[in-house]
Amino acid sequence: MVDPAAEYRALKAEIDEAVGRVLGSGRYVLGPEGEALEREVAAYVGAPHAVGCNSGTDALHLALVAAGIGPGDEVVLPAFTFFATAEAVSYTGATPVFADIDPATFNLSIDSLKSRISSKTKGVIAVHLFGQCAALEEIAALCRQKKLVLIEDCAQALGAEYQGRRAGSWGEFGCFSFYPTKNLAAAGDAGLITTTSGDYDKVLRMLRHHGSRQAYLHERVGWNSRLDELQAAVLRVKLRHLDEFNAARRRVAQRYRGKLQGARLELPAEDTRGKHVYHQFTIRSGRRDAIREALAADGIAASIFYPMPLHRQPAYAASNRSLTLPASEAAARTVLSLPINPLLDEASTDRICARIRDALR
Ligand SMILES: Cc1ncc(COP(=O)(O)O)c(C=O)c1O
Repeated sequence: MVDPAAEYRALKAEIDEAVGRVLGSGRYVLGPEGEALEREVAAYVGAPHAVGCNSGTDALHLALVAAGIGPGDEVVLPAFTFFATAEAVSYTGATPVFADIDPATFNLSIDSLKSRISSKTKGVIAVHLFGQCAALEEIAALCRQKKLVLIEDCAQALGAEYQGRRAGSWGEFGCFSFYPTKNLAAAGDAGLITTTSGDYDKVLRMLRHHGSRQAYLHERVGWNSRLDELQAAVLRVKLRHLDEFNAARRRVAQRYRGKLQGARLELPAEDTRGKHVYHQFTIRSGRRDAIREALAADGIAASIFYPMPLHRQPAYAASNRSLTLPASEAAARTVLSLPINPLLDEASTDRICARIRDALR
C-alpha cells in the first residue's frame, strides 16, 4: 500500500523531462534547479527564505547550529516523534529534553512543554506529527515570552496549515524532509530549511557547504549537506501537484472516517484551527495488534509509528529513567497507521475498513 513508484508512474512524462534536462545540463549539485526549488518552496510555505540540504535530519541539525545551540543547552521536543528529531539535538552537543503530547492530536502538550523549560533551555522543536500542525499560536507565544528559538519539524507536514498559515512559516526555522515516503517525495534523500531571517539564510548556506561562502575560503567548520539537482528537479515537478495530492489524501481520510464510524477504535482528531494533510491516518485501539495481523493476512501493510517513545529508547533511557510521559507511552502502545497515499482508491480503502471491522468483531 506504500508504493513510492506510483507517483512516478502518474507523473512520468513530466519527471522524465525534468531528469533528462538535468542530466543533459552537466550541473548536478547546487545549481539552478535547487535555487528554483528554494524559491518555490519558500513562496508555497509563505516564508521569506529557504535553503535546500541533504535530508530532514540535516535540516534540523543545521537549523540548531545556525541558532547557536550547542553543549550545555537544552532543547525541548515531544517524546512521541521519529528518532531524528532528538538525534539532531544530540549532534550539536545540546541535551534533548522530552515533553509529553496532547493525546488527541499526538502533538506537543503546552502544559508539559511549560513544565520542561529550565534556565538552560534555548529552543523548542514543535513536530507537526502525521501531517497536522502542533498548537503553533500558543507555542510561538510561549517561545517569544521565554526568548526561545522555535524550530518546526515539518518533515511530515508540507502543505499543512494552522490558522491559515502554512507549517514552516511560524518558527525561526521550518525543517522539511523529502524522503521518498513523504507528502513531497524525492527519488532519494533530500531536505530543506525555511527561515524568517536573511542572516540565518546566509549561515545555513555556509554550513551546508563546508562552512564556505567563497570558493576555498572556510569561515567555520561546516558539513557537506548539499541538495542535488536531480532531486530538486523531481521535487519541482511534484510540488506543482502537491495541493492536488494533499486534497486526495484528505479524501481518503474522509472515506476512512465514514467507513469506520461506530467501530470500536479511536479515529484521529482534527484540530479545527488547522488543516491536516494526512501524512498518516493513525487510529488508536487496545487491539491494534489484532487489527494489524488481520490486515497483514490480506497483504495490507499497516504500520506502528512509533512503538517506543524517545525517552524509553536505549540511546536516551539512561538519562531519563525517572521520567514518565503517560500520553506518549499510551500512544506507543495503541497507535496504528493505516495505508494512505494520494492514489489509494475507494475500493482499496473500503476493503481495508471491512478487514478492520472483521478483526474487531
Ligand atoms: C518527524 C520527522 N523528523 C525528521 C525526519 C528526518 O527526515 P530524513 O529522513 O529526511 O532525514 C523524519 C523522517 O523520516 C520525520 O518523520
